[in-house]
Amino acid sequence: MAILLPGGAGYIGSHTAVELLNEGKEIVILDNFSNSKPEVLERIKKITGKDFKFYEMDYLDKQALEKVFEENEIDAVLNFAGYKAVGESVQKPLEYYHNNITGCLVLLETMKKFNVKKFIFSSSATVYGEPEKIPLTEECRTGGTTNPYGTSKLFIEQILKDLYKSDNTWDICILRYFNPVGSHESGLIGEEPQGIPNNLMPYIARVAAGTLKELSVFGNDYNTPDGTGVRDYIHVVDLAKGHVCALNKLDKEGQGIFIYNLGTGKGYSVLDMVKAFEKATGKDVPYRIAPRREGDIATCYADPKKAKEELNWVATKSLEDMCKDSWNYIEKNS
Ligand code: WQD
Repeated sequence: MAILLPGGAGYIGSHTAVELLNEGKEIVILDNFSNSKPEVLERIKKITGKDFKFYEMDYLDKQALEKVFEENEIDAVLNFAGYKAVGESVQKPLEYYHNNITGCLVLLETMKKFNVKKFIFSSSATVYGEPEKIPLTEECRTGGTTNPYGTSKLFIEQILKDLYKSDNTWDICILRYFNPVGSHESGLIGEEPQGIPNNLMPYIARVAAGTLKELSVFGNDYNTPDGTGVRDYIHVVDLAKGHVCALNKLDKEGQGIFIYNLGTGKGYSVLDMVKAFEKATGKDVPYRIAPRREGDIATCYADPKKAKEELNWVATKSLEDMCKDSWNYIEKNS
């Protein structure tokens, strides 16, 4: 029995592939390399010493997808094949809705056809919109997303709830990621944003490397301890392990739709991140205060209690690990 990972060559997919292989699971990756590189596959093999099957294809290609299900005994699907650039999603809403939502529908239809009903979905804390309260629990109100990327996550969550309502033999787990950062400690896999990064940590790393001149801190007049935005940064390896725990839960108990926050429960400001990065790496990160970025909220961090109690999962890596590992990847790969 194998676990299918559409988008398994991407940032979170590749780290999850490593953790699944380390647990002795059989995996099948499919990817069209739209935001990843073929050498990632070799690197996953190098880290784990394990082999796996790979298909170069678009997950929207129903025929090709059916062939994957015919050729392999798929037991569960973890979907990492989504576009994820917030700003780009505002420019290209149709592409984002098509790739993220239609892609997911094609995947679910194919799963249904082959009677595979275990599904783990990569959602995002962005579905909470303006937080109802802090820390965010899974029961908090969702909605009010400010861009098509976030809205695609929200819509897919609803589709999954409707699907489960129609047929309760599905086992579905929705994982709401907070802010994933860092990379595998080997420095072999990591985040590879194309062009100028939008997210804070990759931007800081490029400034430290000298590729970008300085960080623009988007606003210092928020209602936070130092005025800059506060987020729940989580090491990608912790996040990847969360998927293994979610899969174990579906394997053991199954029959339900479950939602979990994957975050540390700690909030750090933009300036905290700059200082932590400088301390962990010994590099300077020059910055200037810039106007607020449209659509940003002041504070967002998780209450991770439910994942602890029900998945037996907690994030264990520190902010220092996150900074060191982000930098290690940049140093080894530029
Ligand atoms: C973090 C903080 C910025 C860049 C987004 C998506 C979310 C998820 C992760 C994407 C904020 C500040 C940032 C910079 C800055 N999914 N910042 N200067 O906005 O919390 O979440 O990414 O794959 O769905 O919405 O993350 O890293 O962009 O920003 O000051 O150059 O850093 O204002 O306070 P965000 P981020």
